[in-house]
Amino acid sequence: MRLVFASNNAHKLQEVQAIMPAGITVLSLHEVGFEQEIDETGTTLAENSKIKADTVCQWLKANGKWSDVDGVFADDTGLEIDALNGAPGVYTARWYKMEPTFEKKDGEAGTFSANRAKALWMLRDKTDRGAQFKTVVTLIKAKGEGADGRKDECLQVEGIVRGQISDAEYGNGGFGYDPVFIPEGYDKTFAELPAEVKNSISHRGRAMMKLVEVL
Ligand code: IMP
Repeated sequence: MRLVFASNNAHKLQEVQAIMPAGITVLSLHEVGFEQEIDETGTTLAENSKIKADTVCQWLKANGKWSDVDGVFADDTGLEIDALNGAPGVYTARWYKMEPTFEKKDGEAGTFSANRAKALWMLRDKTDRGAQFKTVVTLIKAKGEGADGRKDECLQVEGIVRGQISDAEYGNGGFGYDPVFIPEGYDKTFAELPAEVKNSISHRGRAMMKLVEVL
C-alpha cells in the first residue's frame, strides 16, 4: 500500500515513517512533486487536518497521480495547556506571533524556540502545569479497482497524550515543543526520551496506530 503524507514537516514525516508497519510505504509531498504551502484556514485541528488531505488529494487528481497511490493522509497537532483553557490549541504553530508576542530567530528552529519560550513564560507563575498534545489525522483512501471504479473514503482518527509543561527546556531530540513536554508516566521530556519511546506513546503515535487498524 502506498500512502502520501500531506505534510512539509520533515520531523513528522520521519516519525510517521518509523511508526508505519512494513508493507505501507509513506510517500512525502516532495516525492510526489507537490511543492506548495497549504494555508491552514480552519478553526479546529479536524478542519485543518482535512484541508491538508483534501488539498493534496485534489492536486494528485488534477495531475493524474491519484491512481498511482492508495490514498493520502494529513496530521494536524495542537498543544492544549490546562491553565490556559486549552490554548494554544489550533494556534500552536504560530503562537509566538500572537499577543503577547515573542521574538523569533531565523528558520524553523527559531520558530520552535520562540514558541517554547512563550509556553514557559505563560506558565511562569502557575502551579498547574498540566497539558496535552492532540493530533487529528485525516485519511482519504481510494476504494475499489481501476480509475473509474475508485470511490474516496474519508475518515479521521485522534491521538492524545497527557503530560506536564516542564520548568525549563530539557533535551535535544524531537522537535517543536518536545523539550518542554513531559509525558504522563515519565520524568523526562519528549526531547530527552528515545524516539521509539516518544513514538510508542505520543499523540501522533496513538493516532497512527488507530489509522493502521482501519487501513
Ligand atoms: P501543525 O500540526 O503542523 O500545525 O503543528 C503545530 C505545532 O505543533 C508546530 O509548532 C509543531 O512544531 C508542534 N508540534 C507538532 N507535533 C509536535 C510534536 O510531536 N512534538 C512537539 N511539538 C509538536
